[in-house]
Amino acid sequence: MDRKHRRDHDDDWRVNPTDTACLETVIERRRVLQSLAAGAALAVGGARRAMAGSKNPSTLTFRQVERRIKKTHQVAAGYRADVLIRWGDAVMADAPIFDPGNLTPAAQARQFGTNNDFIAFMPFGGASDHGLLSVNHEYCSSELMWPKRRLKRPTARQQRDQIDVEMAAHGHSVVEVRKTGDRWSVVPGGKFARRLTATTPIHISGPAAGEARMKTTADPSGTRVLGTINNCAGGVTPWGTVLIAEENVHGYFGGDPKNTIEHRNHRRMGLRGRPRQDWHLHHRRFNVEAEPHEPNRFGWVVELDPFDPTSTPVKRTALGRFKHEGATVALAPDGRAVVYMGDDQAGEYIYKFVSRDPVDRDNPRANRNLLDHGTLHAAKFHRDGTVTWLPLVWNQGPLTPADGFAGPADVMIEARRAADQLGATPMDRPEDVEPSPVSGRVYAMLTKNRRRNSGDGGANPRGPNPHGHIIEIIPPGAEGDGPNAAVDHAATRARWEILLLAGDPGDFEYDTKYHPATPAHGAWLSSPDNAAFDNKGRLWIASDQGSKQRKNKIPDGLYGCDLSGPGRALPRMLFAVPIGAEMCGPAFTPDAKTLFVAVQHPGDGSRFDNPSTRWPDFRDGMPPRPAVVVITKKDGGEIGG
Ligand code: FEO
Ligand code: CA
Ligand code: CA
Ligand code: CA
Repeated sequence: MDRKHRRDHDDDWRVNPTDTACLETVIERRRVLQSLAAGAALAVGGARRAMAGSKNPSTLTFRQVERRIKKTHQVAAGYRADVLIRWGDAVMADAPIFDPGNLTPAAQARQFGTNNDFIAFMPFGGASDHGLLSVNHEYCSSELMWPKRRLKRPTARQQRDQIDVEMAAHGHSVVEVRKTGDRWSVVPGGKFARRLTATTPIHISGPAAGEARMKTTADPSGTRVLGTINNCAGGVTPWGTVLIAEENVHGYFGGDPKNTIEHRNHRRMGLRGRPRQDWHLHHRRFNVEAEPHEPNRFGWVVELDPFDPTSTPVKRTALGRFKHEGATVALAPDGRAVVYMGDDQAGEYIYKFVSRDPVDRDNPRANRNLLDHGTLHAAKFHRDGTVTWLPLVWNQGPLTPADGFAGPADVMIEARRAADQLGATPMDRPEDVEPSPVSGRVYAMLTKNRRRNSGDGGANPRGPNPHGHIIEIIPPGAEGDGPNAAVDHAATRARWEILLLAGDPGDFEYDTKYHPATPAHGAWLSSPDNAAFDNKGRLWIASDQGSKQRKNKIPDGLYGCDLSGPGRALPRMLFAVPIGAEMCGPAFTPDAKTLFVAVQHPGDGSRFDNPSTRWPDFRDGMPPRPAVVVITKKDGGEIGG
């Protein structure tokens, strides 16, 4: 989501009262990076330039795109990048043709939602040419949906119909996709086609389900909520379901939280009753004074079975409530599922959930409620290069009734406060946290943190940190680059290193860390956000610079990057998004010959009446449309070479 337009609910803002590193006034902008553990070579400034012309050490074979901000997308030579499905395209067979001058809730609920983010490719029987795309729709860019609508100081209150269109544009889409020859297309209708919106009935399970703080007037059971919102990144489980992360859920609630019994809780989630849109004026449950518990029913990870269009999605409260970016799953050697998660706000934490029971690999349905039982942990990064995973267990340590946690549900609903109490490490906006299926090492994208005044001497070494960095977490058994079957993702200790410190290595204002062959002003990146791995174990990094795109003078896009060998930490840009957009959702087919990406909020920073781009249609009167793009290599080879 763009930073400039978030106002007070910006995720660059801090609401963590324990985040003292950010509160210090000493500025250590040029601090020496002695805390960085050994790993990729560290080079600063001009040293890189000397090496820029040397032989390419990377396994990536493409020439990167021209890095200019344009009205349209760009892909490296030798590749195709085709729009597969756009906001307003049909998901359900009977969806009407998209008409931007006549948006209706009924039409939108059957069409592809807006601001696509996470993508899961769910193959049929392991196929790489046929499967389901399961796609998140994070939020609405109202100013690009409606004529004369301004986000800053809106002049008019939104009418009920407009709100209901926006609610229907949120959520998730499931579509069947197929490759015929060298082209992908959506199978119209398809028996798996499905839309989830802000009104879809969703089940609540796990420790918080049915508890008093989850009950509302409409749902006295505390087990059934309408809708999933602000669906950002996500993950796929080994048993074939999709995990959908609810991120900036605070931005939907009006009313004054100070007048509610949940005041402290809402404040810790950044909920200040100043919503981005006017849902609360037309739907009472989004007025926090009328329904103080309704916000407690958002901010969870939702599990969806895309292969069963009649199934009810489930909010898994055992995974904690915070501003979930993603939820990616690895298996411990004993078969337990480990879900890595980031809380995307400046000064918040990295978490992992470890299931109580092992995954039943022979019977996927036996894992239906696996994510309801287990232990949530928050990460504490030590300066000596180790990390401790702190268990958030009720009635242990500082998580007792005397500390304001009356039972296990309170620990989950207020996971942030529980992690505060345990002393977890405030991070620079944790977005995707992804375990490599090849090495078992875990990569945490830390987008940025301009409000960190000084580095913490450890895992967040720069203050301010306007470009972000990527941390590599090395669980026991993942020291080598070999197969990861023995990697103990459930262990409570691991090692960490910094893979790279983003920013322009030619900019002497900030220290950076990359492969020494990274050219100054050349292949650098800013603001790592989503990520995926190809089947060679290379990392693909999606960037989200927000309103800093113009200042940085590079478009957002997707970068490939070796993690091992001589090309480690040397990024290269494969795909660039149009002006205003951020890059989301990278997802590969099993054969790594197709890469799906999500172009989110093209034209951001401009308005419906005069957008900065009309990508991808470029037709008068047609607003920019967020879309899934499918990338293939023209010679049919693997992406990246
Ligand atoms: Fe929705 Fe953290 O990006
Ligand atoms: Ca983002
Ligand atoms: Ca994101
Ligand atoms: Ca991801």
